[in-house]
Amino acid sequence: MKNIIMTADRPTGKMHIGHFVGSFQTRVELQNKGEYDKFYIMIADVQALTDNAGNPQKVRDNIVEIMLDYLSVGLDPNKVVFCLQSQIPALAEMSQYFSNLVTFQRLVRNPTVKSEIKFRGFDNESVGIPVGFVCYPISQTADICAFGANLIPVGEDQEPMLEQQREIVRSFNRTYHTNCLVECKSCLSQNVASRRLPGTDGKEKMSKSLGNCIYLCDEPDEIKKKVNSIKTFPRKIEEPGILQDNVLFAYLSAFCKDEHFAKYYPKFKNFDELKTAYQKGGIGDGEIKKFLNSVLQETLQPIRARRAEYQKDIHGVLQILEQGTQKANQVANATLKAIKNAMGIDYFDDPTFEAEQTKLYSKN
Ligand code: TRP
Repeated sequence: MKNIIMTADRPTGKMHIGHFVGSFQTRVELQNKGEYDKFYIMIADVQALTDNAGNPQKVRDNIVEIMLDYLSVGLDPNKVVFCLQSQIPALAEMSQYFSNLVTFQRLVRNPTVKSEIKFRGFDNESVGIPVGFVCYPISQTADICAFGANLIPVGEDQEPMLEQQREIVRSFNRTYHTNCLVECKSCLSQNVASRRLPGTDGKEKMSKSLGNCIYLCDEPDEIKKKVNSIKTFPRKIEEPGILQDNVLFAYLSAFCKDEHFAKYYPKFKNFDELKTAYQKGGIGDGEIKKFLNSVLQETLQPIRARRAEYQKDIHGVLQILEQGTQKANQVANATLKAIKNAMGIDYFDDPTFEAEQTKLYSKN
């Protein structure tokens, strides 16, 4: 079977280190392993509008921003097709046909949709839920199906979306007696600690709206300031340190490698040694913050440097996106054609239609 990798992000803000370890690193690994036939990354601006209808400028302002984030983490335009959702009209048409195979009840039961409705206050009766918003899992299904993608590197919060994709695919293939659509599966970060990074304030999730992020493009002094602002459990230095809900250790388990110890914290060989010693007591959190800062600085420095290079040539960045979108359109149009053929609604391209109708009216 062919491996086709596809993923997307909403252009609503800069990417932070939670995105990096949760999904971007996995994408770069997949890219560098090279065990795939095609790799698509889409800027999901249509999906971003489902809860930003009144603020298209925000979406517009984040298109180049997110391209810079992609390129800066090392995603390579020679290996990945970058494309822009709103400029691929076949996706909207596909979504329309898929929407007949999903119930409204199923959409509002989707755990991710459900929690987002709450988070955005759409459950308040005087606000209400935009129809486009509840339907976004359908549009996401189209994004995936358009490219025949089977592997989706995403954060774990996207799992319910992929479950809906599989349901729609099965329903479509069953209803129209075809196998033209492919079920996908997620590709999560190997490191479980990386799947959900807490915010610098200790809240469960790092999120722009909570203001608790370290961004990929943060300057060194900002990173240091944010690391130093992380709240830790007050204790005397000789008392045992607690690992549970410890933000410093959550970040270290996502970021630190053995070679970081040799360079910045030679007292310990590796993370396990540090954890054991910390739990015994005698290690202050200031020391841990210093180490974490060194690790983050080392990780983010090359990302910032690459971003600075690409930033000098926005024309080039946009060309990458435009050319990728052209390629994506070719593939999505071919899939749409197959979909309409399976449904028997490609009337003018289907010679059997005229023949069958002619026969129907020439009975006697
Ligand atoms: N819902 C995803 C997010 O919020 C973005 C997205 C849109 C996506 N279409 C997709 C992810 C297709 C994977 C595959 O991050």
